[in-house]
Amino acid sequence: MKLPIIIVNFKATEQAVGKNAVVLAKSLERVANETGASVAVAVQAMDLVPVLQAVKIPVLAQHVDPVDFGSFTGHIPPALVKRLGAAGTLLNHSEHRLPKKILADSIKKAHDAGLWVCACANTPADSLAVSELGPDVVAIEPPELIGGDISVSVAKPDILTKTTDKVKSVPVLCGAGVKNTQDVRIARKLGTQGILVASGVTKAKDPAAALKQLIDGL
Ligand code: G3P
Repeated sequence: MKLPIIIVNFKATEQAVGKNAVVLAKSLERVANETGASVAVAVQAMDLVPVLQAVKIPVLAQHVDPVDFGSFTGHIPPALVKRLGAAGTLLNHSEHRLPKKILADSIKKAHDAGLWVCACANTPADSLAVSELGPDVVAIEPPELIGGDISVSVAKPDILTKTTDKVKSVPVLCGAGVKNTQDVRIARKLGTQGILVASGVTKAKDPAAALKQLIDGL
């Protein structure tokens, strides 16, 4: 995956699931192509196939389970996600935390399947612990700022500095409350290699324009 990167997490946001996921992914892809920026979208498992059929930018599964093909009702096998054409996965998002052992197994299974892994963490110390499990990048997101209007880079720049100081084995992304060019610019100055964003794009009146603003700071 090309860094620096902006990953747009569609969550289960109404504007970003089902048919809306396809429309949104296509409009974000247009911005990625116009600007040449590295942009990926993280979509609901149920939206993987239609989004993968609609765009060529990297598509991530929002989660995978540490299972192979087989008797795993309701689980998401990384090998299936890869076979469908996804580039990678998010793991351990604040809204889908995993015990460390499960996270370690999930990272391994995802890598065995050939998926790129962005593993989330909620503090600098947690970022270090998560980085030691060997994901491709760690994304630090203070939970209390997720979905808010003040970005992590403005509200808690020290968290980003502490994280980039501690985590040396993999690149660091950050997220929570990211809304504009300046938020991204500060995050980059503090040593991060990109942004994990949701509401600032998915709930914007004009998601393409919102993404363009973030790319300007990249
Ligand atoms: O995964 C990104 C997310 O948790 C941040 O959400 O809405 O603050 O950009 P938001």
